[in-house]
Amino acid sequence: MTLVRYEIRDGVAVVTIDNPPVNALAASVWSEIDEAVQRGVADAAAEAIVLIGAGTTFIAGADIKAFELLKTPADSMARSEGTHALLKRMEDASKPLVAAIHGNALGGGLEVAQACHFRIATRNAKVGQPEVMLGIVPGAGGTQRLPRLAGAAMALTMCTGGKPVAAPEALAAGIIDQIVDGDLLTGAIAFATAKARAREIRKVRDIVLPADAVTAGLEACDATRAALKRTAKGLRAPYAVVDAIEAGLTLPFDQGSVREREIFAECVASTESKALRHLFFAEREVAKVPDVPKDTPTKEIRRAAVVGAGTMGGGIAMNYANAGIPVLLKDVDQAALERGIATIRRNYAVTMSKGKMTAEQVEQTMALITPTTSYDGFDQVDIVTEAVFEDMDLKKSTFADLGKVTGPDCILASNSSTLDIDQFASASGRPSQVLGHHYFSPANVMKLLEIVRGRQTGKEAIATSLKLAKKLGKVGVVVGNCFGFVANRMLAYYMREAYLLLEEGASVEQIDRVLTEFGLPVGPFGMQDIAGIDVGARIRQYLKSIGKSRAEGPQSAIPDRLFEMGRYGQKTGAGWYKYDAPGSRNRTTDPLIEDLANEEARKRGIVRRPINDEEIVARITTALANEGARVLEEKFATRPGDIDVIYVYGFGFPRHRGGPMFYADTVGLPTVLSRVNEYRARFGDYWEPAPMLEKLVAAGRGFYD
Ligand code: CAA
Repeated sequence: MTLVRYEIRDGVAVVTIDNPPVNALAASVWSEIDEAVQRGVADAAAEAIVLIGAGTTFIAGADIKAFELLKTPADSMARSEGTHALLKRMEDASKPLVAAIHGNALGGGLEVAQACHFRIATRNAKVGQPEVMLGIVPGAGGTQRLPRLAGAAMALTMCTGGKPVAAPEALAAGIIDQIVDGDLLTGAIAFATAKARAREIRKVRDIVLPADAVTAGLEACDATRAALKRTAKGLRAPYAVVDAIEAGLTLPFDQGSVREREIFAECVASTESKALRHLFFAEREVAKVPDVPKDTPTKEIRRAAVVGAGTMGGGIAMNYANAGIPVLLKDVDQAALERGIATIRRNYAVTMSKGKMTAEQVEQTMALITPTTSYDGFDQVDIVTEAVFEDMDLKKSTFADLGKVTGPDCILASNSSTLDIDQFASASGRPSQVLGHHYFSPANVMKLLEIVRGRQTGKEAIATSLKLAKKLGKVGVVVGNCFGFVANRMLAYYMREAYLLLEEGASVEQIDRVLTEFGLPVGPFGMQDIAGIDVGARIRQYLKSIGKSRAEGPQSAIPDRLFEMGRYGQKTGAGWYKYDAPGSRNRTTDPLIEDLANEEARKRGIVRRPINDEEIVARITTALANEGARVLEEKFATRPGDIDVIYVYGFGFPRHRGGPMFYADTVGLPTVLSRVNEYRARFGDYWEPAPMLEKLVAAGRGFYD
């Protein structure tokens, strides 16, 4: 199949890359671009050459799937040698070669454009080197050409941050030469013709940076490395980017390019890169639900309502308002509403103080939120999200009300974090429109939305929720209706191990430190102090009332004892830690916790012992993987990748470890299984291997084989 077209327009060879959806540089695209450019050079009918993308974009980069083929550094070196030579051949074209950019020129796409003599772009185009987000460095000359074109500081920012820049900024930085406001191809042909007539050709690789720019660039490399110590803990790729750019500043182009290729080869084979590439595809895969086809009709969400103006309800209302959707926010009385609105206002004030919103934008957004104590107007909304207290009877009666006060095709979503969606569905009287929309705290910040499918949830409600999630800036993942759904069901096992490790001899500080060093933004105890110890305690009370527990195995009594003492966490000024004041984040160790741990250990006949950091990571990640395997086997999650996305976006599981299931594969499932068996022998039968784990190990496979 031809992926690159060639035609002559007004004396200019137009080379069009047409590899939908994003013109990724598959191997044949590279070679066809090469052939077409050389054809243009040889074609007497062409005085210049324009390279342009078909469809909605220029080139979004190398084909990320193809990196799987680079098994060894030698494979990688061979492949990139060919790419570098190809780009040099393009750059050596004897006629002006112009990249005409619309949509995105990312990664290899921007590198192709930099090997052209000139770059022009539409005003809303974006250019970037996002490779670092895939755990690699630009591998097609980007670390060598971009500093020559835009200066080392700009190249460092773009390549270590990965964020694309808009055309006007790219113009100011010298990355592009002109913005075209009219038709891009027409503008490109005119631009290329003018350059041909002026006999102008500019090769980026020949730009020589003045000595003072090199010195400043080297200083910027050191400063970037120092800054990365704070922002890139546990990562290699951002530092590798600096190494490659530094090589470009100190070595001639060809030698710098060899260094870039070596660094690329090292990175592409790393677990960090494999994990990040895995997540790139897993994040896109979650939107594909096997029995909900792409063409399932969806409902347009024009107006929304939220019931419950507490922390979660307020955050959910903010999500709608931020997306420009008017939202009614209901609570039982004026005082509760006023508290809710005041919290929302405080949140926006923080956003404003960070320069992310102007005062005017805040007022416009706040104006989309209408507080109310009645159901007036609920007959006009397209969706209601219930965010009342986590209490089955209260939620059921809320759904019974919603079934009456809303229009017949209104979607009814529950923000419950654990309770049975099917019971709300029955209470509402129209179960096909009921599902869970489980947001994560703080709801206006965390990107995960668990979309919980009940027994009778209709496909339209699911497809609408997936589309809505995107509109609200969330990553929607469809999960089944088991207790705690996927995120909190697995979290119960994570927390069980954290509590038991504490009773066995580790400290709250040690466990939190080890897990933050592993890459989580906050450890289990710090997280509970933020979320509220009362929340978990109330869920446990409910479970006790129906004769269940959250996780198999012994349940530590310490969290309930803290609850009884009124130590709910940050909000009460004490929880697992002591805080300066209620609401403060400044925490100190509280010896009381150690006393409680000693007491509980004595009661359970445990002799407390020093626990090493490795055991903490192993126990907690093994508990997650084993329960994740059960979730998969019971079909409450569609794919292991869905669980990984849930953990990355819901709890900040470190991206460079790929999520709990991918991480288990990198540890090796035989090791994971042997740990489960070892823990079973040491601690008891509640450490039972998930059948899927045993089957995979027996078959010599991982979750992802
Ligand atoms: N390779 C392979 N597939 C890609 C791809 C790539 N570089 N970029 C996007 N796709 C695929 C996606 O997987 C998705 O496939 P499905 O429809 O099958 O799920 C499809 O293209 C559309 O992508 P999105 O859903 O992400 O579409 P969007 O409109 O929301 O975003 C985008 C478009 C901004 C280009 C986004 O896809 C993106 O950021 N892509 C990756 C850009 C990137 O990282 N480029 C660097 C690659 S590495 C490199 O180039 C190394 C080098 O130096 C040579």
